Amino acid sequence: MKTILLNETPGDIERAGEILRGGGLVGVPTETVYGLAADALNGEAVARIFRAKGRPMDNPLIVHIADFSDIERFSLVREIPESARLLAERFWPGPLTMIMKKGEVIPDEVSAGLDTVAIRYPSHPAARAIIKAAKTPLAAPSANLSGSPSPTTAAHVMNDLSGRIEAVLDGGSCEVGLESTVITLAGEKPRVLRPGGVTVEQLREALGEVEVDDAVLHRLSEGERAASPGMKYKHYSPKANVILLRGSDEAFIEYTNAHSGDGVAALCCDEDIAALRTEAYSLGKRGDYSAQAHSLFELLRRLDESGRIRTVYSRLPGTDGVGLAVYNRLIRAAGFEVIDLEKK
Ligand code: TXA
Ligand code: MG
Repeated sequence: MKTILLNETPGDIERAGEILRGGGLVGVPTETVYGLAADALNGEAVARIFRAKGRPMDNPLIVHIADFSDIERFSLVREIPESARLLAERFWPGPLTMIMKKGEVIPDEVSAGLDTVAIRYPSHPAARAIIKAAKTPLAAPSANLSGSPSPTTAAHVMNDLSGRIEAVLDGGSCEVGLESTVITLAGEKPRVLRPGGVTVEQLREALGEVEVDDAVLHRLSEGERAASPGMKYKHYSPKANVILLRGSDEAFIEYTNAHSGDGVAALCCDEDIAALRTEAYSLGKRGDYSAQAHSLFELLRRLDESGRIRTVYSRLPGTDGVGLAVYNRLIRAAGFEVIDLEKK
């Protein structure tokens, strides 16, 4: 199959909609990362997503809508909890996914056998236009091969999936750069399963009490059940060995310089570069977690493409604000390997 590259023109958006209506797969830009979309109400089309990505079938997908009213129009959920209305008012369209009890129309391929469904209303204009053109909600995981970093440009999607899907629509580089915040509203208390661009602090401001799932910051132990199946996989993992360093700015620089050498690089902040004696890739300014989120996956891909780098010493961000999302992706890229420099 030859994968065609589409642009943000009305003609190409219409074309993407036609492909999706016909059961095809399209790489779609969103404000978080690129998604690999199919008609969410067509189980066969959704099954093709799993084959194209090499994704385990037990990992459910997010259903993307183009208006809050789509939830009722397509009967996607059994009922809309009051908390969902509150969050939608504040954060939709945007980088927030809400899990609710699923409606009967949701195919098993989407929910992976769970009795819930994840729903997101993205803010990227092209994403919204494509959903409208398809005239159906779109199931879409991130448009990477399973196990590699999520794609933040159309070129990343092409690198991973060219020849396996019908089309990719180029909507530029993704603003947030990390996947959406996932919150479940199907349990007793609202609980964050995956941190993202909408922060835990913002969610608490809107809802009051909000729990954060253990899997956000820690490795699940053998046999432990993941509330969000995606959290149990070693994710976002580059080929190089990523080692996270916890400690002061000075300790990071000192340790990295002492371990520099052939095939070693640093994933650092702008302010570190002058003092580092190793190949350095900057995530952004210290404390600017939005900038770090925006560049993380792009940098992980560049490290892989270099083909030379075997070990990466990385900064560990704070766990406040969007820092929690960067932290969550980095500890997975590192397979949970953290060296505590203060304890040595
Ligand atoms: O920003 C995003 O969310 C992107 C764009 C394309 O919208 N999508 C995305 O999808 O990151 P994916 O499939 O890579 O991640 C979805 C996560 C997985 O960890 C999955 O296990 C979880 O959401 N998930 C989906 N449905 C769920 C459900 N019903 N219950 C629990 N977790 C669910
Ligand atoms: Mg993904």
